[in-house]
Amino acid sequence: MNLPDDKAVASAVAAFDAELAQAKSARDALTVRDKYLGRKNSVVASWMQLVASAPPDQKKTIGRSANELKQAVEARWAAYQTAAASAARPAGAIDVTLPGRAPILGHRHPLTVVRDRMEEIFTRMGFAIVEGPEVEDEWHCFDALNMPAEHPARDMQDTLYLATPIRGESGRADDVRTLLRTHTSSMQTRYMQAHPPPVRIVVPGRVYRRDDLDLTHTPAFSQVEGLVVGEGISLADLKGTLVAFAREMFGERSRLRFRPSFFPYTEPSAEVDISCWQCHGAGCAMCKKSGWLEILGCGMVHPAVFEAVGYDAEKYTGFAWGIGIERVAILRYQVEDIRSFYENDLRFLEQFPY
Ligand code: DAH
Repeated sequence: MNLPDDKAVASAVAAFDAELAQAKSARDALTVRDKYLGRKNSVVASWMQLVASAPPDQKKTIGRSANELKQAVEARWAAYQTAAASAARPAGAIDVTLPGRAPILGHRHPLTVVRDRMEEIFTRMGFAIVEGPEVEDEWHCFDALNMPAEHPARDMQDTLYLATPIRGESGRADDVRTLLRTHTSSMQTRYMQAHPPPVRIVVPGRVYRRDDLDLTHTPAFSQVEGLVVGEGISLADLKGTLVAFAREMFGERSRLRFRPSFFPYTEPSAEVDISCWQCHGAGCAMCKKSGWLEILGCGMVHPAVFEAVGYDAEKYTGFAWGIGIERVAILRYQVEDIRSFYENDLRFLEQFPY
């Protein structure tokens, strides 16, 4: 055999090309590859052996040629494989060897997360979850809740009335105007009419008010109403229930503050503040340095409400509350603009734990 030089490299490479071009199958091609690049007895291997046995003054040139041959044949083999792979796959076909792309999983809306959490806590306390109609009649939404016709909340300014009245269930003459419920309290009267005491329900749902959109108002928002009625139910039960709820919902260190207030359907009535869960009462930006955040309205059910639904007001007592879901979410997640919850911008929605 001639000693390897540039010419010998060129002709060996050309021979490799020619033999590879003759290959009719992948198996043929591998045979050619092994003939040139195999570990033992291949063309490249025998050139390498020549290097080892060459006289010292020729080792360097022979070695360079042997390496050139090896690299040239390897490069051509790699190119051959790439070409063969794309030829074997029709244009546009899926390359199943590529790594997969993970599907994007959906998640609950932050308002749903808050609502689910509330439902879970009250369910564990033995409450039933019930839902009621968003289209209500005036009687269930106002009259039966001790809010007579002159009550300001019934004004067209505040309440969205529907153009086509449907006759409500009470059968009373003043029961014909229908509206979008302004609070979930309407379900208190609807539920009590249909079920004798005792009652232990929470009513999540959407409510509507004639408000313009701004940072803190939307014409539609959500509440969770609570109602407990039985014999011997007292203000202590109201406080105990809400304190237990607050600890579950906002953490063990939460404290509640009951401020006297007024709602026509409760007596006494209270607005409830929760100790700020960011500063725990020390005062921070979230609670506007007061240490407290207003969170819900509540009270002992007014006897007039029991009378309206046909409950014995001498025998039964009860308590009720209403809490705004958006309000809790805004405070919990420190959201500045209530509208963000309704804009369906995933960049916003994906920020919350779900
Ligand atoms: N309905 C009230 C509102 O929409 C909230 C509320 C206050 C509900 C006191 C109640 C209650 O059941 O007892 O602001």
